Amino acid sequence: MLPTTAPAPPFTLTRASHVVLAVTDLAASRDFYRDVIGLVVTAETDDAVYLRGLEEDAHHSLVLEQATEAKAVCLGLRVRTDADVTAAERHLVATGIEHERVERPHQGPTLRFRDAVGTRVELTSSMDLVPRKMADFHDFRAGAPQRIDHFQAVTHDVRTATEFWTGLGMRTSEYTGQYREDGTDELWGTWMEVKGNTHDLVFTNGRGPRLHHFAYTVPDATSLIHAADVTGSLGLGHEIDRGPGRHGISNALFLYVRDPDQHRIELFTTHYQLIDLESEAIRWDVSDPRRAQQWGMPASERWFFEASEFPGEPVHEPLLHATPPTLEAFLGLH
Ligand SMILES: [Fe+2]
Repeated sequence: MLPTTAPAPPFTLTRASHVVLAVTDLAASRDFYRDVIGLVVTAETDDAVYLRGLEEDAHHSLVLEQATEAKAVCLGLRVRTDADVTAAERHLVATGIEHERVERPHQGPTLRFRDAVGTRVELTSSMDLVPRKMADFHDFRAGAPQRIDHFQAVTHDVRTATEFWTGLGMRTSEYTGQYREDGTDELWGTWMEVKGNTHDLVFTNGRGPRLHHFAYTVPDATSLIHAADVTGSLGLGHEIDRGPGRHGISNALFLYVRDPDQHRIELFTTHYQLIDLESEAIRWDVSDPRRAQQWGMPASERWFFEASEFPGEPVHEPLLHATPPTLEAFLGLH
C-alpha cells in the first residue's frame, strides 16, 4: 500500500528550490552551467558561484562550492514562511532527527538535516530577489532553462523515504512497483510533489543515499534539442548520458547531461499538473520499459548506477533487489 499524505503536516513545504554541489574546479563548473546548460550567473565569490534559471526571481537555484572532492552537499526545499522553519525545527527535535541552523548567503532562516534515509536537505523560507530574465531573449543560451523543478535521489529504502516525505505533506503522483509472490506491492520508486505538478522529490531504489539528478524545465521541445546540439558542438556530446527521449512517468521529454565532476543535470519539458485531490497516483511495473522511455532504447548502466554521494554519508546496498532493464541487458551484452 502506498504511504498516505499527511493532511495537516507539521510545517508547509512549497517546492524544490535549490541544490548545493561541491565541485573540484569552480571555474570549469561555472562555465559548464552557464555556457553548456544556459543558466544565469547571479553572483560569484572566490569559493562559490550562484546561478539561476531565466525566469527565476530567487537569487539562486544552483550553488557551486569549491572543494577537493565532488559531492552533492544538499538538496534545497522552500517552506512558506519563517514560522515554518521554526515549526520544522520543533518537529525535527520532537522526532529525534539530527539538524542544524546554518547561515547561508542570500537566504532567509535555513535549517539543514538528514531525512530518514540519509538524504541531505536544506529548508529555507526566502531568498534575495533578483530580476526575472524570462523576456531577455537575447540572453537565452543552450536550452534556456527557466526554473528548477525537482530532484531525484537514490535510496536503499524507498518505502521509508516515501513515508518520511508524505508524512511532511508530499503527495505521490506516480510510482513504480514490483509485485511479490504474496501479491503485495514493493515500492521501487516514488514521484512526490508539493507544488502542483508531478514531482518535487523522487526516490528510486539503489545504492543510497545519493543524488541522481536535479532538473530544470526548458521552454519547449526545440529548446531541448538545441541544448543537445550545443552540448555536442561544444565537444561534450559524450556527456549526454540519456536522451533526448520521452518518459512514461510524468510524460516528460528529457535530456540528461553530466557536468565536469559527473554531477547529473536534467533538462525537460511537459510535466502535467497534479492539483485536484481526487486524482490517483499512477502505478507502473518496474518491468515495463514504457515507464522509463516511450520510444528508443533503455538507459545505460552509467545512467542507472552512477550518482553523487552526500558528504560523510555512508552508502547502503538496496533492500530491494530489482533492476529495470538496462541498455546493456537490452543489447545482450550481459
Ligand atoms: Fe527528473
